[in-house]
Amino acid sequence: MSPSMSLAVNENTKEDEQLYQKGVKHLCERGIKKVPTKYILPVSEQPYSRKDDHNAANPNLKLPVIDFAQLQGSNRSQVLDSIAKACQDYGFFQLINHGMATDVISSMIDVGKKFFELPFDEREKYMSSDMRSPVRYGTSFNQNKDGVFCWRDFLKLSCQPLSDVLPYWPSSPVDLREAATNYSKQTKFLYLMLMEAILESLGLVETIGESENLREFEDGSQLMVVNCYPSCPEPDLTLGMPPHSDYGLLTLLLQDEVKGLQIQHQGRWVTVEPIPNSFVVNVGDHLEIFSNGRYKSVLHRVLVNSSKSRISVASLHSLPFDSMIRPSPKLINEDNPRRYMDTDFATFLEYVSSCEPKSKNFLESRKLIT
Ligand code: OGA
Ligand code: NI
Repeated sequence: MSPSMSLAVNENTKEDEQLYQKGVKHLCERGIKKVPTKYILPVSEQPYSRKDDHNAANPNLKLPVIDFAQLQGSNRSQVLDSIAKACQDYGFFQLINHGMATDVISSMIDVGKKFFELPFDEREKYMSSDMRSPVRYGTSFNQNKDGVFCWRDFLKLSCQPLSDVLPYWPSSPVDLREAATNYSKQTKFLYLMLMEAILESLGLVETIGESENLREFEDGSQLMVVNCYPSCPEPDLTLGMPPHSDYGLLTLLLQDEVKGLQIQHQGRWVTVEPIPNSFVVNVGDHLEIFSNGRYKSVLHRVLVNSSKSRISVASLHSLPFDSMIRPSPKLINEDNPRRYMDTDFATFLEYVSSCEPKSKNFLESRKLIT
């Protein structure tokens, strides 16, 4: 190959760019054997790069496990302490014994899988670049901004109010609307129970049900994201998702049996071992702000692998769209001054859609004390 030809290989033609916009699944269906340049990260950002100090993985570390059933019993105060510790030290925990029926969970994974197996023409109907669209099929992390693409396709379903958004959700596979409705209602319920526990762990409610705040959480927004990470011929060169933090108060993530999620802990990447029928729960940017920095919104990323495709469903919960996000006044005092400025949701959405949110840019921009 002449030098000029090899240069040409690195430049994406308009046709290539159009192809990449259609997603990784579509690309794989065309039978590629190598990762196209568009998806190749700079060496320092590649997942196993020795140039990245963080890449010495920490295989022995396990995420804290919270037993939801215990939270409802006489051990509540110990479980609240464990939740507080997990949110401070890791920003993440795994939730077991949560009581959600296994068929609700398996149906959700099942319709998610089936959606990505539909012919591309069918999936394409739901493509939209409008951040506020009730349904959005797309690829990469922020496909309008990403220079290098990620090895992920997604289906985003906004969930409130359900009666308004349901007619926009995909009509195929036929059981998607029913499965996703059940799943979204039940994750919302779990989220509220967890939020109640979290408020209590922050010392913001003495007894369950007394919080004026809880109303605001009930009316909050919910976005479900079905992530599809097809198997990748060269998984060392790319990522399913770049290091990012989630924006809301809490994310409840359901992952299938395939590993991939890693969180940053003490400067290392730690793999989250899938526990069947459990949820991975993590603190989002808004909860870090609300708790005035006590609970941490932690960077996480997704690895892909060469043999298996992976599905996950993230349910992101936050305050209503017209709310202000601010540190709880009860958590601010002389010893613990306010650390973040107030932000409304619209400003926040503008921020995420206008930059490449590869790190904690948003939170950094809100900090009063660094
Ligand atoms: C997310 C996310 C992790 C995963 O959707 O924000 O971090 O394992 N997903 O898919
Ligand atoms: Ni995330």
